Amino acid sequence: MSITAAESQIRDLKLAPQGKLKIDWVAAHMPLLNSIKDQFEKDKPFRGKKVTICLHLEAKTAYLAKVVHAGGAEVAVVASNPLSTQDDVVAALVDGGIYGYAWYGASMEEYKKHINMALDFRPDAIIDDGGDLVATLHSERLDQTKSILGGCEETTTGILRLRSMEKEGKLQFPMMAVNDAYCKYLFDNRYGTGQSVWDGIMRTTNLVVSGKTAVVVGYGWCGKGVAMRAKGLGAKVVVTEIDPIKAVEAVMDGFEVMPLIDAARVGDFFITVTGNKDVITAEHFYVMKDGAVLCNAGHFDVEINKNDLHGMAKTVRTVRNNIEEFAFADGRKVYLLAEGRLVNLAAGDGHPAEVMDMTFALQALALRHVVENRAELQPRVYSVPDHLDEYVAKLRLKTWGIGIDELTEEQKRYLDSWAE
Ligand SMILES: NC(=O)c1ccc[n+]([C@@H]2O[C@H](COP(=O)([O-])OP(=O)(O)OC[C@H]3O[C@@H](n4cnc5c(N)ncnc54)[C@H](O)[C@@H]3O)[C@@H](O)[C@H]2O)c1
Repeated sequence: MSITAAESQIRDLKLAPQGKLKIDWVAAHMPLLNSIKDQFEKDKPFRGKKVTICLHLEAKTAYLAKVVHAGGAEVAVVASNPLSTQDDVVAALVDGGIYGYAWYGASMEEYKKHINMALDFRPDAIIDDGGDLVATLHSERLDQTKSILGGCEETTTGILRLRSMEKEGKLQFPMMAVNDAYCKYLFDNRYGTGQSVWDGIMRTTNLVVSGKTAVVVGYGWCGKGVAMRAKGLGAKVVVTEIDPIKAVEAVMDGFEVMPLIDAARVGDFFITVTGNKDVITAEHFYVMKDGAVLCNAGHFDVEINKNDLHGMAKTVRTVRNNIEEFAFADGRKVYLLAEGRLVNLAAGDGHPAEVMDMTFALQALALRHVVENRAELQPRVYSVPDHLDEYVAKLRLKTWGIGIDELTEEQKRYLDSWAE
């Protein structure tokens, strides 16, 4: 057995061939990462470095891990969510010389233990998704933060946590806010979440969407995508918000907007995408229609209040893989998908490969940026430099074979001048 296999914590190494097929499939649809991998193989930007990657462990993230590995790093992967790990994919990584600490359905204790093992690996740099790796480093393992050059954060929720650490003066190393790059949130949060959330709901429930009412809770970048795709599937879409500007945007995009307590009475499907807690609670469950389907696409499983659901239910049973039925005393039943965890990952394969290609191209380039420019960076949250964002967009267009126009010198002068 290889060192990585002996030291890893995974379900079953024998699953590796199946996982490898999955990774090969996505790699064939990720031309940006392929080109970055070629470059990394030549330059070896991470030579002699160790990198811990904490992401939803499925085929696309696995390919990112392989690209970082190809750049000369020793790599360890760990789950950013106990329900999104695909055991065959992690087995394939371990078989290919990467350390893995994750299995599907890990308990909270196992999940935390795995995060600590991935930090015992003593990384020089990290990639995080949601902030659990960074939070563990800054609470239980503060001493270790000195040896970290920096890292990248994948999602909105993680960046909110980083910014609050930065504000309190607690952040100990530079972190790149990859989520906030244009080539991330405009495409991944909107088109990626939009498509994969409905894929997760449909494959899990096998129910029709057309003609039903879909309530999208939160009209941020993810909510916009979920609402747009619901409309395309023929649903009547209701949006709920707390931000008046987003609410106006939703109305002008053609959706009905109302308070959640009113939407709760009419919805067939409820999708929370706020990044906030206790968004759907007992008061809403009391008025929901019989048969309502509830799911979440926000980072943590705190948006739908599960304690309230359990407290109100007379019986709870699993009626289909990833579907729990909560039967109330008045005879109504509501259904919760994937335990209220991100439905597109816990009950699906996550975003399409082509979308994650852009996100992970940014991750790979931003990680290289941190490692190579550590001397100039402070322990702060940094935006991905514009030139990297633009590079990813240009590469995307190139792989599609699409050309665009360029400013003439005269146009540049015109745009730069204030005189007529
Ligand atoms: N499922 C996925 O694959 C995936 C992908 C990207 C991001 N995310 C996660 O999804 C969440 C949302 O991300 P985003 O980029 O859309 O964030 P965002 O900040 O763009 O949008 C969140 C929206 O929710 C609204 N909101 C907050 N509290 C609310 C409440 N109580 N009721 C109604 N609306 C409320 C905010 O006003 C905002 O418009 C985050 O947790 C993020 O980490 C998930």
